[in-house]
Amino acid sequence: MIRIAVLLLFSFAFSVHAQSNDVTVPAVRVVRLQVEYRNASISDLQKIHKWNAIMRNSVLASLKFINKHWLICGGSPSDTPSFSNADCGKAQVTGEIVGGNHYRINVTLIAERDPVKNAKVEATSTVYAVAHIGLKGGIFQYTNALKVLGKPEPKLSFDEAFFCYRGATLVDTDKCRKDRRLRDSPLLDSVETPIPLDNLLAL
Ligand SMILES: *[C@@H]1O[C@H](CO)[C@@H](O)[C@H](O)[C@H]1NC(C)=O
Ligand SMILES: *[C@@H]1O[C@H](CO)[C@@H](O)[C@H](O)[C@H]1NC(C)=O
Repeated sequence: MIRIAVLLLFSFAFSVHAQSNDVTVPAVRVVRLQVEYRNASISDLQKIHKWNAIMRNSVLASLKFINKHWLICGGSPSDTPSFSNADCGKAQVTGEIVGGNHYRINVTLIAERDPVKNAKVEATSTVYAVAHIGLKGGIFQYTNALKVLGKPEPKLSFDEAFFCYRGATLVDTDKCRKDRRLRDSPLLDSVETPIPLDNLLAL
């Protein structure tokens, strides 16, 4: 009896699947964090050799530190949260002198969906909340060189957007539907095509 039910269930599932050409997968979530420093020593900063590289590495180290506790870094093709994400969701870090003593760091990365999971205990949070805690805890000044930036503004700016890889179209805000003409190619092929960098930075 159970076996028949299971068989029926399978054939039903199969026919539903076969009828539906509109297979959707979750879209890639890209978040942007902005950290403002309104009392930066810009003249000291300009004297630091390879400032941009130091600043980028420091921010990346901060993100990885957060990711040790809260799984925020996304972007693996299989979409499983990753403990050892080498780059934290292909993070792009840019810094700019806004004027006067004002310096701004923009970070964009592919992030996991909220609620994000704790790496060790049964708990959830959001990417914004854990990045904000990281900011307050000073971890965005991971290296000594970043002390020239002074104290960051206590509030982190945050936005997010959803993208699909090539061969798919964004539907319902945060899902990707495979384009029809590509429906015979395995989904994973298109998932591995990287998002053009311009799209990430144009957020
Ligand atoms: C701004 O930075 C200077 C050192 O660069 C420091 O002496 C001063 O206390 C800072 N002011 C604020 C409001 O943080
Ligand atoms: C950082 O983000 C702001 C606000 O969206 C934007 O105006 C600025 O051009 C960005 N800066 C860099 C260096 O990407």
